Amino acid sequence: MSQFDQLYRQVALSVATHPVVEKVVSKQGWALAQRFVSGESAEDAIEAIKRLEQSGILGNLDLLGEFVTTPEPANQNTELILQAMDKVHAAGLTPYNSIKLSSIGQGQQIGGQDLGDVNARRIVARAKQYGGFVNLDMEDHPRVDETLRLFRELVQEFGNQHVGTVLQAYLHRTEEDRRSLDDLKPNLRIVKGAYLEPESVAMQDKAEIDAAYRRLVYEHLQAGNYCNVATHDHNIIYDVMHFELAHGIPKSQFEFQLLYGIREDLQRELAAQGYTVRSYIPFGKEWYGYYSRRIAERPKNVLFVLRGLI
Ligand code: FDA
Repeated sequence: MSQFDQLYRQVALSVATHPVVEKVVSKQGWALAQRFVSGESAEDAIEAIKRLEQSGILGNLDLLGEFVTTPEPANQNTELILQAMDKVHAAGLTPYNSIKLSSIGQGQQIGGQDLGDVNARRIVARAKQYGGFVNLDMEDHPRVDETLRLFRELVQEFGNQHVGTVLQAYLHRTEEDRRSLDDLKPNLRIVKGAYLEPESVAMQDKAEIDAAYRRLVYEHLQAGNYCNVATHDHNIIYDVMHFELAHGIPKSQFEFQLLYGIREDLQRELAAQGYTVRSYIPFGKEWYGYYSRRIAERPKNVLFVLRGLI
């Protein structure tokens, strides 16, 4: 089963990047994407936060879009993220955003500076102004070094209560990366990892990834750091609950994070039990990349796409 899942994921992610598939699926538009995306605008995302709040679930906004290669869309995305924060603040809420550095200029050199660094600083400064928080999502493996370098600088400049990042359990390097950040007392989101990565850098076996995931969460909590346990895997979620009880870890030291539209029953159940739960709420027009990773995570989801296409 686990080998089948792995193979399915590899095939699904490879097929998704084929231009014809992208064109066909993109054409079906919102009808397909809406299960995982709150809407096109920041207002739609704010509505989703308010709806989830009624069940005691917090929000984490993500403007869709990634891997832009020129400054204009990178700066446009930055403006949209800043505007979304302003709107969230104006609605009486505290901004909590996730950003993909590849969508705001990471790797583009402008006047001797990395545009991603410049834009990320603007975004984290605005979050701090509102008492909010920004999480630097982790993307494909060639970006890890630069993301961790920037994360260290941002924590030193703005404080660990305003900026966090993500570590992916499937990468061979991650245990070492986690330890190397301990001096910052970092707020980290631990995920399994969503990109198609080669064996040379990432584990391919699901059981091995799950074991690495548990180790990372337990080590991070035992080091006294704040942990965002980001998974839909109820076995891991229940194990973390047992670990917390067995080791006297306070509930205020971690939260469960799940994606919008996935396992909403579980999200509500955890919130009702008094755990902090945060839903990752994507909004915007550039939904294809995000959507194809969600489809690749679960064979059953491909039936949903095929039904929509037919
Ligand atoms: P796993 O894939 O083992 O699934 C466990 C169970 O969850 C499944 O059996 C199914 O019931 C349910 N499930 C999982 N995915 C589903 C889906 N798409 N549809 C329906 N049910 C599903 N990755 C990354 O590389 N960088 C990042 O920054 C982030 N950020 C992030 C934030 C948050 C809040 C979450 C929850 C996840 C991420 N991810 C991520 C994605 C992550 O790496 C991983 O790909 C997905 O979470 C799927 O793995 P699970 O841990 O859920 O377990």
